[in-house]
Amino acid sequence: MRNIVLIGFMGTGKSTVGQHLAERLDLEFVDSDEVIEERASREISSIFAEYGEEYFRDLEAEVIRNLSQQQDLVIATGGGVVLRQENIEQLQKKGIIILLTAEPEVILNRVKDSNRPLLEVPEPLKKIKEMLAARREYYDITEYKIDTSRLSVEEVVDEIGEIISNEGG
Ligand code: S3P
Repeated sequence: MRNIVLIGFMGTGKSTVGQHLAERLDLEFVDSDEVIEERASREISSIFAEYGEEYFRDLEAEVIRNLSQQQDLVIATGGGVVLRQENIEQLQKKGIIILLTAEPEVILNRVKDSNRPLLEVPEPLKKIKEMLAARREYYDITEYKIDTSRLSVEEVVDEIGEIISNEGG
């Protein structure tokens, strides 16, 4: 089976939905941020703080190249994976890409107690809106989009299930 790849901004539900989806479909779940942390033996926030964003993006691209060679995976990606075209080309090879979205206020509510280095700013809501605007076209690469703002995890999983069965997967 093709990989199911979840893309989208921070706080749109990629990891939580991905885990439930993988359980439902009896597939392996992989979170690319976690793989990066394992490879670097440190947390994302410390990779950003010590080596900067470019270094993180290089590690991310390497991990995506690796995961894209496998199959039968549900892959939750980091919110910035779309910034490098190479990542998308890799992921598309053996995967169906699904975009999760959410409203800025919902995103803030979901991420406020978590460790997101890019949102460690005095006005995170403003930053979320700016980043969403700047990334809009990067996320717009798939016909499959689900707004998770008002859906439960299981409802999102149901919608993805429908997408996959329509795709013949
Ligand atoms: C990032 C999103 C994060 C993580 C890193 C950068 C981004 O992943 O990869 O902090 O650029 O949007 P999540 O989307 O899983 O929070």
